[in-house]
This record gives sequence, C-alpha cells and structure tokens, in this order.
Amino acid sequence: MSQMPRPFWYIAAPASRLASGPLACRVLDNDLVLFRAANGAPGALIDRCCHRGAKLSLGAVQSGSLACGYHGWRYDGAGHCVHIPSLPAASAPPPDASVPAFPCIEQDSYVWVWMGEGEPEPSAPARVPGFERFVWQQGTIAMACAAMLGIENNLDWCHPAFAHPWAHGQFFKTQLVGFTEQAYETRLTDTGMILFGPATAGEDDPVPSQCWFKATFALPDRVMIEFPGERGMTIVLHFVPTGPNTCRQEWLVSLVPMAEPRDGIRARWSDEEPKILAQDRALMESAQLNYDREGDGFERSVAADASTMLARRIVALAAAGRWRSERATLPWRRVVRVRS
Ligand code: FES
Ligand SMILES: [Fe+2]
Repeated sequence: MSQMPRPFWYIAAPASRLASGPLACRVLDNDLVLFRAANGAPGALIDRCCHRGAKLSLGAVQSGSLACGYHGWRYDGAGHCVHIPSLPAASAPPPDASVPAFPCIEQDSYVWVWMGEGEPEPSAPARVPGFERFVWQQGTIAMACAAMLGIENNLDWCHPAFAHPWAHGQFFKTQLVGFTEQAYETRLTDTGMILFGPATAGEDDPVPSQCWFKATFALPDRVMIEFPGERGMTIVLHFVPTGPNTCRQEWLVSLVPMAEPRDGIRARWSDEEPKILAQDRALMESAQLNYDREGDGFERSVAADASTMLARRIVALAAAGRWRSERATLPWRRVVRVRS
C-alpha cells in the first residue's frame, strides 16, 4: 500500500490521452479504467468486469457505454451494467451487476478521480494555479520510486547544483560565484507548505512576489515551482502514487507567456522527458533501490534538510487523517541557513 493519503483528488490521466477510451490507469493501489460517456464526461471504474473478471480496459466504448471485451456486458459511467447481450431481449441486467465507480472530473487539462470514501470533499480538485495564464507543455513519466521521493526532491533546496549540471540556475550560479551562505524559509499553508528564498526579515513580512525560487506543496501530491523574471517559468508536478514504491509524474511546464492559443488547447502533449526531470529521476530511482533493499535505517539528515523533513511530516499527518486537527503542531515558519 502506498503511504500517501487516500481521501484526495488525484490525477487519473491527462485529458488529451483519453479520446473516448477505454484507458487503463493506476492510482494508489487501484487499477482503473477511464472512458467518456456520450456527453463527453469522463467516468472512472475499477478495471474488472463483474461477470468473469476481465479487464474492462480491453473492451470498447459503444455509444457512451463501456463494453467488456469478453462477453460484451455494458456499463455506464456510474458502473451499472446496462446491457447483457446474452440475455433475451426482455430481460434486464440483475440489479447487483455493477463495478465500483469513482467520482471523476475533467479540469485544467487533467481527468481527476476522488479516491476517498463517500462524497468528495472538496467537491472538485483544487485548480492548477495560473492554468489560464499560460500555454503549457504536458507529459507523463512512470517512475520507479515512491511519490514521496518526488515531492521531497522538489522541495530540496540543496540538490540542484549537484543534480542538475547544465540545466538549472543554481548550477550555473555556483559555477560563476561558488557556493554562498544564504537562508531559505518555509511556511505552512492550509494545504501544505511553501519553500522560498531569500528568507524574509520576519514573520510579519508576506511571501515576496519575486523570489529567487519558490516551491509550493499542496496535498496530496502537487509541487508548483516558480522561477522569477520576465521570462520566468512555472512547473507544476503531481506525483500520483501507483503503488508503495512507484509513482507517475504528471508534469506541466509553462511556455513563454503568449497570446491565447488559437485552437483553445492550453496543454500541448510531449513524449519527451525534460532533461531536468530525467536528472532527478535517475537519482530518486537509485535511492529507491536502496530503500527497497535496506529500509531507511541508513538515512542521516542535517539542518539543511528541514524543508523535506517538513514535507514528510505534512504527508504523514494527512495519511493518518490528522492534518486538519494537528496541523498547528508543525512549525508554521522556519528560516534555515544553508550553503548552496
Ligand atoms: S467477463 Fe466481462 S462480460 Fe464476461
Ligand atoms: Fe531537481
């Protein structure tokens, strides 16, 4: 089982990957099948026919219902079997012929599923911040590491000079002027935390609008990274858990701000893995192999790791269902001196 919290909206797939369906995807420990109803609305069902267990993702979409590829039982977006071809014309499917369905919403170029019990709360996923401001490049990368490693990596102030040769501003900065002592700041938010630098003078100061670097973590799995400047860039990453030690990185990288897209499509699909993401992935997957073999007893942490340690505590509280009740036990603001 993944250690990630369950009662949240997760990305099932980029919307452009789901034509009519069916499309198989995995979220937490569930194999799901996505498809579009006749009105285009996406549906998400467990990928298992209730007749003889075949994967529904091997079937076909016919007039907005999903037909199993084995004996043709057909399902609607709520998972109810609406037609059984082998029955005489007058016979309706038995009322208990259904497969579990998940609340499913299309928003900001993604299809999202609610993985908790009962009614979704909130009723829709949080908007991707700034989605309407940019045209984005969009892609998906399967990763052989836990979602938490991806989240930590992107809240880790001290790795880019080493992990991102020729690809990251911090690498170029250290090439030019070497390592310098500086301070980053973390602040807790209602939905996670912000990491930014340089640090403010005090807790009364707001988070500056122009930072060297700012990363915002929002539960359960979103990290948004903002690089400042005229031609500044925004990266929005979701680390969707697909098992205890695997995840799917859903990435959006803003293109240079430009006029409204003429075709209305804001997210342009890319099969290429951006270099900077590939550099991180190689390191995280190597670490996961070691965690798999040995557990985490070998780990040592230092003060500079405060931001990633905070993220761990936030996710652990959420996974235990105690984020809202015990959020106040976490430090709401910290300034951490580091060399980088
Ligand atoms: S297994 Fe799906 S219709 Fe028989
Ligand atoms: Fe990185």
